[in-house]
Amino acid sequence: MADNSLSITDNRTGKKYEIEITDDTIRAMDLRQIKVNDDDFGMMTYDPAFTNTASCRSDITFIDGGKGILRYRGYPIEQLAEKSNFLEVSYLLIHGELPNKSQYDAWVNDVTHHTLVHERIKKFLDGFRYDAHPMGILVSSIASLSTYYPEAKNLDDEAIRMLQIHRLLGKVPTISALGYRHSLGLPYTYPDNEFSYAGNFLNMMFRMVEPKYDLDPVLERAMDVLFILHADHEQNCSTSSARAVGSSRTDIYSAVSAASAALYGPLHGGANEAVINMLHKIGNKSNISGFIEGVKNGEERLMGFGHRVYKNYDPRAKIIKELAYQVFEVTGKNPYLDIALELEQIALNDEYFVKRKLYPNVDFYSGLIYQSMGFPMEMFTVLFAIGRTAGWAAQWLEMINDPETKIARPRQIYQGAEERDFVGMDQRD
Ligand code: SDX
Repeated sequence: MADNSLSITDNRTGKKYEIEITDDTIRAMDLRQIKVNDDDFGMMTYDPAFTNTASCRSDITFIDGGKGILRYRGYPIEQLAEKSNFLEVSYLLIHGELPNKSQYDAWVNDVTHHTLVHERIKKFLDGFRYDAHPMGILVSSIASLSTYYPEAKNLDDEAIRMLQIHRLLGKVPTISALGYRHSLGLPYTYPDNEFSYAGNFLNMMFRMVEPKYDLDPVLERAMDVLFILHADHEQNCSTSSARAVGSSRTDIYSAVSAASAALYGPLHGGANEAVINMLHKIGNKSNISGFIEGVKNGEERLMGFGHRVYKNYDPRAKIIKELAYQVFEVTGKNPYLDIALELEQIALNDEYFVKRKLYPNVDFYSGLIYQSMGFPMEMFTVLFAIGRTAGWAAQWLEMINDPETKIARPRQIYQGAEERDFVGMDQRD
């Protein structure tokens, strides 16, 4: 009997099986040999929401949920947030190593070269209602990029693949800012490539008629760090959506558009907007205990708390909480901060949350910063998407290059009607 194996006895037949263990996992296909008779399809695993299923091998991001550890390509998120910048981190995620000076300069030039969008995209944007949600605009605009760059379907051409990644990283902030300006009826702002990546985004968002946007360095750095913290997070809902859609060998724009649609949900990237709505609903500290009771009896959900993987404090939430104080020095304290801090203290000491290992996640404090920086709530998830575009691109590229990649096609447990004959309309009840 091999050491690295499971010995399984099927008590229905008395048959015994040896299933190989690799990297503390077994291949689900190795279970298919377990049958009760030759006509049997064979054993499958049943794992709704893939809570205990590894869908791929990846070198990109490591998370230890129990210890609250997050590393991009082996580098702790705390060190990257302190010492790096978003474009350098996007290079790291996509290429696997930190760039040297010439690689970095070329990367910045490649991405910056693609911050402009085709002028016809502005006509496309004009088709949206004035109050269209910026995430709805972003999801559809990213998909529209596949029509401007049809060569993106040449997935086997490495240079073409990388060109689309440069375009995505360059254009997603521009489209995001255009969506915001559209919603306010403001004139569209063009990129100013003299600014940094984060600085240019703030410029495109908030410049009015002044010839040069007056960029605050503290807010610029805060925006850049927030992009770093949101850049990747292994096989989360949106990233696994990018992989699944991309596995059909569609272009990267369609795959990333699907990812951004998944991120839109309030249980995922939409949580930062939901946190502010929750804090607004609580209104003041005196209402916190009543709200907490509502959470416990299932009437409310503590948005920005809990995580499928982290059963400890989300390391990103710690960094964002510290960053908030730096931003508030410039913008003034967010009035909801005291409610958020009190809510956190109560939750971290309340048995309901402690037993369920519910800690603040990346979304709990980020919305307070965004709001104080002048972003409307509808833009919060868009800000998440800008950072996560680097991770979606890196994960998509890894999937395309993975020899084990096949089109994603899960199975099911069919429990519907057995075979039955068609009944004419006049015979139906
Ligand atoms: C992100 O996957 C990623 O990596 C995501 C992300 C990334 O970077 O990509 O980290 C970004 O999406 C962060 C999560 C943002 N979402 C929220 O803040 C929404 C609120 N949180 C949840 O809805 C919830 O915690 C999830 C969706 C994040 C995780 O849900 P799970 O893993 O499916 O856990 P669960 O729903 O099975 O909850 C387990 C228990 C349940 O109680 P019981 O049924 O056992 O009694 O914990 C409870 C849940 O009711 N619970 C909560 C809660 N989260 C879980 N109860 C109150 N408030 C919450 N926030």
